[in-house]
Amino acid sequence: MSWISASAMRSQCDGTIPATRLKWAISGRMELDRLSAWICTRIVTPPADIGLATPADAQAIALLSRDEIEHGLGWSWTAARVLRAIRDRNTNVVVVRDEGRVVGFALLQYDEDRAHLLLFAVAPSHRRRGIATSLWQWLEETLRVAGVGNVQVELRASNAVARSFYEKVGFELINATSKYYRGVETALHMIKELMPRNA
Ligand SMILES: CC(C)(COP(=O)(O)OP(=O)(O)OC[C@H]1O[C@@H](n2cnc3c(N)ncnc32)[C@H](O)[C@@H]1OP(=O)(O)O)[C@@H](O)C(=O)NCCC(=O)NCCS
Repeated sequence: MSWISASAMRSQCDGTIPATRLKWAISGRMELDRLSAWICTRIVTPPADIGLATPADAQAIALLSRDEIEHGLGWSWTAARVLRAIRDRNTNVVVVRDEGRVVGFALLQYDEDRAHLLLFAVAPSHRRRGIATSLWQWLEETLRVAGVGNVQVELRASNAVARSFYEKVGFELINATSKYYRGVETALHMIKELMPRNA
């Protein structure tokens, strides 16, 4: 995806983006002007300090992933990989900022009518303040408007805090895969249905 400045996006926003357009946007099939209009709706009325990541955020996101998510498993989400995700039409990278610093982020990949939450973290200094809840609500609102059917996530079986968080925001455990992470650690697979099946 080409990058467009915030001011350019604001000037393109007419405030009337039909849901079908939103769905096309996140599935990566939308033309650039329509995609920028969708993004614009998030910038004109940003809830709290949550918004789409810029390329300049890639390093901060990568470090959070290394230290708070991938510890003990190696570092696969390097800055270069995060940057590719930021530029990927089928991925949204969303950040929470505090005084300009990235203190939380989510990385969501989209399929036809499903989403996969690949990464999600809040900096230790900012936990237990409801930041993850706000970030999730922002994501869920976007997914619902876009007509995405469900969102799935994998997490380490040992990560009781994350499991507690995902259950709190409505995810359900569907199964587990042993030795999922680097052949050593079990993964829990959780899902949240966003709309009734066959709706
Ligand atoms: C999981 C995580 C994102 C939660 O972030 P947070 O901003 O602290 O979460 P919130 O303040 O919004 O808490 C929401 C709910 O999550 C659960 N929760 C959060 N921290 C918890 C803890 N230390 N112990 C138990 N439950 C916890 C609670 O249900 C909480 O609701 P409550 O405050 O009413 O009890 C954060 O701990 C984190 O980044 N962990 C490391 C990365 C990670 O595990 N990511 C998920 C897997 S990819």
